[in-house]
Parts: sequence; structure tokens; C-alpha cells
Amino acid sequence: MSDIRNIVILTGAGISAESGLATFRGPDGLWEGHRVEDVCTPAALARDPVLVHRFYDARRAALENVAPNAAHDALARLDAAWAGELLIVTQNVDDLHERAGAARLLHMHGELQSALCTDCGMATRWSGPMGHGPECPGCGARALRPDIVFFGEMPYEMERIDRALSRADLFVSVGTSGAVYPAAGFVQTARHHGAETLELNLEPSAGSFWFGESRMGAASVLVPRWVDEILQA
Ligand code: APR
Ligand code: ZN
Repeated sequence: MSDIRNIVILTGAGISAESGLATFRGPDGLWEGHRVEDVCTPAALARDPVLVHRFYDARRAALENVAPNAAHDALARLDAAWAGELLIVTQNVDDLHERAGAARLLHMHGELQSALCTDCGMATRWSGPMGHGPECPGCGARALRPDIVFFGEMPYEMERIDRALSRADLFVSVGTSGAVYPAAGFVQTARHHGAETLELNLEPSAGSFWFGESRMGAASVLVPRWVDEILQA
């Protein structure tokens, strides 16, 4: 039996690519046609709320046409079977990990299917368009915004993530370019605390240098194979 008990898994847009959701920095990247600062900053929301809501309403609607792939399913299988500590930290705002059955899951960049009231701070599950000023179920204010962590804002649950990284025996990164911090720095934090580190990605990333092992390929192939390995170790 390997001496791995506590695992932290970071996922990025690449794990949802084979489900049909565009990544950010690939050839068909989500930012194509939009500059990040035009749709994913607090200033953009203040300057052009219609554009920002249109961008996120379209991404929220796209969730109805996609399904989890074998990589999401494999991580959910690991989550259900793993007796030690396990935390899936996703940068993604889609709901594919949940739909695959993952439970020990954290959305550090927020979720498309949540609305945040900028008046009372209440977060509400949300599935439809948000672009026409619906009222906050909590306080009635027409002050809802996508519950997405914009550039320049603090990701969610960083203390919980740091605690998990400090206790990890193994850190695995799936489908992320390592372009955005603080997520891009998690591998270094894990290494600092003595964890083994494994990268599963379609191509070398900005963070590949820091990983003890990097496997290149599609998540739908690499992740199920790795989950079988770790469960049999
Ligand atoms: N299997 C595995 N990896 C894949 C696949 C696949 N089928 N398809 C693409 N990838 C890889 C790409 O090679 C790339 O390294 O997934 C990575 C996706 O990188 P990005 O598009 O930069 O997405 P991500 O790393 O999640 O972006 C991080 O940046 O834009 C912000 O907040 C946004 O959460 C996002 C953050
Ligand atoms: Zn409110």
C-alpha cells in the first residue's frame, strides 16, 4: 500500500473540454472576441453590465447541452472510494463535477449556477438568464451579479485550500495552463510541504517545471487510468 493518504486535485478548463465546453486559452478560447478585462472584471460589470451578463448567460445556458466526461466520472469514483482526505479544487464554474457525483469539491472561482447579490451578499442557486435585473430573493434589490470570481477579486475558500495543500501527500493537476494565480502556485505549496506532484494535461503548461511527474494526453484517458492506479496502489 502506498503511503499516500491525503490528496488534493486541482482541475481547470481542460477537464471539461471533452464535454464540449471551450477552454480559455486554446485556439477556440472563450476569450476569443472578448478581452478578459471586457467581461471578467468588476470594472467591466460596472461599465457594461449587459455585455457581462450576456457573456455569462450564454455560458450558463451552454451547461444544458453538455455532460460530464470520463475524467469527471473517474474523479467522482475516486471521491467515493478514497478513505483518506481528498479535495477537488476546481477553477471551473461549470457543474460537471457535481453532475458526475463528486462531493468533496470546492469552486474557487465561483459557479455559473449561482447569483450573488451585491446589496446583501446573499448567494442564490440560479439557472436562467440574469441579464434583465431580476430581484434578489433575499432583499429584493435588483442587484444580482454572476457569482464568479472576477480578475482582481479574491478566490473563494483560500484558507481551506491552503490547509488541504499543507496536509497533502499527493497534489494532482488536471487540465490547467498554470496561467492564473493563486491556483498556478498550488503545486509549489504542495511541494514545499513534501507532497508528490503529478500533472495530467494535453500539453506542457506554464507550471510543468514544478511537477515531479507530467503526463501529456487527454483528460478522459489519463484521469481514469490514474484513478485505477491510485486505487490499486
Ligand atoms: N485534456 C487535458 N487537458 C486539456 C484538454 C483535454 N482534453 N484540452 C485542453 N487541455 C489543457 C490545455 O492544454 C490547457 O493547458 O487545459 C488547459 C486549459 O487552460 P486554460 O484555457 O488557461 O484554462 P484554465 O487553466 O482553467 O484557466 C484558469 O483562468 O481565465 C481564467 O478564471 C479563468 O479559471 C480560469 C483560469
Ligand atoms: Zn440581496
